[in-house]
Amino acid sequence: MKITLFGTQPYDRESFDRIRDAYGFDVTYHRSHLNAGNVALAEGADVVCIFVNDTADAATVARLSQLGVRLIALRCAGFNNVDLLSAAQHGIPVVRVPAYSPHAVAEHAVALMLSLNRKIHRAYWRTRDGNFSLHGLLGFDLYGKTAGIVGTGRIARELIRILRGFGMEVIAYDLCPDEAYAAVAGIAYVPLDELYARADIVSLHCPLTDRTRYMIGPEAIGRMKPGVMLINTGRGQLIHTGALIDGLKQKKIGAAGLDVYEEEAAYFYEDTSDRIMSDDVLARLLSFNNVIVTSHQGFFTREALDNIARTTMENIREFAAGEPLTNRVSAGA
Ligand code: NAI
Repeated sequence: MKITLFGTQPYDRESFDRIRDAYGFDVTYHRSHLNAGNVALAEGADVVCIFVNDTADAATVARLSQLGVRLIALRCAGFNNVDLLSAAQHGIPVVRVPAYSPHAVAEHAVALMLSLNRKIHRAYWRTRDGNFSLHGLLGFDLYGKTAGIVGTGRIARELIRILRGFGMEVIAYDLCPDEAYAAVAGIAYVPLDELYARADIVSLHCPLTDRTRYMIGPEAIGRMKPGVMLINTGRGQLIHTGALIDGLKQKKIGAAGLDVYEEEAAYFYEDTSDRIMSDDVLARLLSFNNVIVTSHQGFFTREALDNIARTTMENIREFAAGEPLTNRVSAGA
C-alpha cells in the first residue's frame, strides 16, 4: 500500500516513522499542502493522507481518481476541506481521525481564556522588560461567570468539565441537544440568541458546515454582552473576521482567542517572520492587545500526534484488508 502524505511537518514524519514499519506501508512525505495545482505529486499512491489546510475540492478529487488514488485519509477530525460528494462520485472513500485528543483542544481553549483574562501574554513581556506595573492587566474571576458553548461534542464536553471545575455556569447550544448529558454535566441547553445574550465567554466547538459558516457575524456579535470574550478553536470560517475586527474596535468584544483563522492556510505552520505580511486582516488582528492568535495548535500534544498516526494507519490497514471502515466520513455527515 503506497501512502502519500501532504502538508507534513517534521513532527508528523516522526510520529508516522515510529510506527510505519509495523504496518509495512510505503510512505512518502510532502511538505506542501495538497491542492489542484500539485495533485500530480500523488501519482503512484493508493492513499493520500491530508491535514486541515490541504484542499481536496472537486477538481483535486477528480484528478486523484484519474491518478488511481483509492482512499483519502484525513489526519484530522474536521472534513470541511474535502468535497465528499465528489469523492463519493469517484468511489473514493474518505476516512478521518474522529478524536485524537479532545483533551488537547479543550485545554488549549482554556489556555486562551486564562491568558486573555489575566493578560499573561502582556505580563510576560512586561516583567522581562523590568516593568512590574499592573496597569491594564485587570481580569475577572471565572468563578460564577457564564460560559456559552456552541456545539457539545467530544472537545466541548472536556472543556465543560474543566469550566465547571472553575465554578462557571455553562449554557450550551447544539443542533442535536443531549439532555441526558446536560443533566449529568450540570449545564443547560438554550437557544443561540439566549446564549449570546448571557455568556461572558463564548467558545465555538461545532464543525464548519454550510449552516455554521460565518455564524459569528455582525448580527450574532450585536446580540452578545458588551466585553464578551470569544474563543475559536473550531474552524476559521465560523467567524466573519471583518465583523470580529469591527466588534473589537467598537469594544463590544473584550477579547478574542483564535486558534484558527479563515485564511490560515497561507500562514499557519510556516515561519514567515522574514517576510512582509500581505494579509491586512491578519495583520490587524495581530495588532490588538486583547487578541491572541495561535497557529491551529490546539491538537498539538504528544498524545494527540501519537493517536493521529495510529488511527490513520489503522484506517488504512482496514481499507487494505477490505474490512469495514470504522472512521469513514460520508457525504451528508
Ligand atoms: P464532535 O463531532 O464530537 O462534536 C461536534 C458537535 O457540534 C456535535 O455535538 C454536533 O451535534 C454539533 N453541531 C453540529 N452542527 C452544529 C450547528 N450547526 N450548531 C451547533 N452545534 C452543531 O466534534 P469535536 O471532536 O468536538 O470537534 C469540534 C470541532 O473542533 C471539529 O469539527 C473541528 O473543526 C475542530 N477541531 C479543532 C482542532 C484544533 O486543533 N484547533 C482539533 C480538532 C478539532
